[in-house]
Amino acid sequence: MMWQHKVQGQRNLHPPLDKFRMLCGRKKSYFVAAVCIITLTSMVTVSYLRLQRLSHQPKVIQEGSKCRGEIANSTITPLKDNKTFIISPYFDDRESKVTRVIGIVHHEDVKQLYCWFCCQPNGKIYVSNAKIDVHSDRFGFPYGAADIVCLEPENCDPTHVSIHPFAHGNIDQLPRFEIKNRKPEPFSVDFTVCISAMFGNYNNVLQFIQSLEMYKILGAQKVVIYKNNCSHLMEKVLKFYIEEGTVEIIPWPINSHLKVSSRWHFFLDGTDIGYYGQITALNDCIYRNMQRSKFVVLNDADEIILPLKHPNWKTMMSSLQEQNPGTGIFLFENHIFPETVSTHMFNISSWNTVPGVNILQHVHREPDRKDVINPRKMIVDPQKVIQTSVHSVLHAYGDSVNVPMDVALIYHCRKPLQRDLPRESLVRDTALWRYNSSLIMNVNKVLSQTIL
Ligand SMILES: *[C@@H]1O[C@H](CO)[C@@H](O)[C@H](O)[C@H]1NC(C)=O
Ligand SMILES: *[C@@H]1O[C@H](CO)[C@@H](O)[C@H](O)[C@H]1NC(C)=O
Ligand SMILES: *[C@@H]1O[C@H](CO)[C@@H](O)[C@H](O)[C@H]1NC(C)=O
Ligand SMILES: *[C@@H]1O[C@H](CO)[C@@H](O)[C@H](O)[C@H]1NC(C)=O
Ligand SMILES: *[C@@H]1O[C@H](CO)[C@@H](O)[C@H](O)[C@H]1NC(C)=O
Repeated sequence: MMWQHKVQGQRNLHPPLDKFRMLCGRKKSYFVAAVCIITLTSMVTVSYLRLQRLSHQPKVIQEGSKCRGEIANSTITPLKDNKTFIISPYFDDRESKVTRVIGIVHHEDVKQLYCWFCCQPNGKIYVSNAKIDVHSDRFGFPYGAADIVCLEPENCDPTHVSIHPFAHGNIDQLPRFEIKNRKPEPFSVDFTVCISAMFGNYNNVLQFIQSLEMYKILGAQKVVIYKNNCSHLMEKVLKFYIEEGTVEIIPWPINSHLKVSSRWHFFLDGTDIGYYGQITALNDCIYRNMQRSKFVVLNDADEIILPLKHPNWKTMMSSLQEQNPGTGIFLFENHIFPETVSTHMFNISSWNTVPGVNILQHVHREPDRKDVINPRKMIVDPQKVIQTSVHSVLHAYGDSVNVPMDVALIYHCRKPLQRDLPRESLVRDTALWRYNSSLIMNVNKVLSQTIL
């Protein structure tokens, strides 16, 4: 493990210095002097390295304390510096016992943070120097996803942590965050879909319901949505799915804290963070579901990972895992089905009053372009992921594999990317239609119980 912070305090340097005096104090030949200098240098280096490691060890700073700080309940909590935003801490013992806090930080301005652990019942407060790891995929924006990682005190199993820029002060004033994933649990579901950001008065109701019903047909039991904002009609649909037990909403009011861009790349427009903080939401979603879900599916609401050789995700993933032992990351190729090109099939009259796209009518996909690589989205084993980006993982314990196009593709129905193509140049691909009857039946059921 590489802990990169500066050494604090010099007290532990004294014992090697004493040894140096004993060894080198009297004799005066050049040879001995040279040996002494080399010895001294190596001793100092060894203790320096040891100190560097030690400086991250939790230290008791108060005894007989009570944990009084208020428990933070919002998804995004700013610290007093207004440069650090805490999403959630997660227990992670895959390497050593750490608390990994998913957050958003200013990549330059946030240099030092401490985890304050309140250990009950012995009433000791420990402070650990955090390792701040700003994810490399920041795309030029000043703020980015970060892991704030702290070694936990031994024999404590803290349930809560506070994050603070100082190793001193009064803990009573600091919000406390629950450390999730503390206790191992059996998986409750096979597949959870993470939708990283719903924003901009989202009102593509028909396509959303169709996507959700497709996820369920393919094997998802849960869909987690990081919701910034959506239309009133959409709220009604979400309420239905929450009551059904399929959807979990994570409020995502990122624009109350930072100037968000709706682009993924920084554009010198004074914005702070890309695409509604999508990357942070995805990382949070993986950790949030690490113990609950065997697989996590990372895609947008207009994307469906469509198996072509198997009836559903479960049989597809069993087969892919068998063929790729040790792989935790499965990457699927994105294909655009433009919403501007329709067929007359499946023009269902009762759906015409519902806002949004009817995906069954869009079965023409754009051909691959020379020199353009189709982006990929993922199904991952969350326990194998350390840090994720949107189209790949940044750090993982297992390998990644590109799933070939004959096994599955991403059906992505949206505005065209190759705008000027005539219809004849598109590839007719009706893979989605295999599911037409159950999809139509399920969508009708939801519509009749929500908005029709
Ligand atoms: C969070 O919820 C808990 C329990 O519901 C409550 O005691 C606490 O005051 C809340 N914290 C804040 C900051 O609202
Ligand atoms: C942080 O932001 C809040 C609200 O945006 C503001 O009231 C406060 O003064 C800011 N604090 C600092 C230290 O900049
Ligand atoms: C949702 O966001 C849009 C712009 O992104 C804004 O115009 C609208 O007022 C917001 N709606 C709500 C209910 O917050
Ligand atoms: C669907 O049917 C309606 C009439 O029922 C018609 O106005 C519309 O153009 C049709 N759309 C497509 C894409 O076939
Ligand atoms: C719709 O699905 C049924 C079976 O569920 C199938 O027999 C039929 O061919 C499908 N329709 C189209 C147009 O593919």
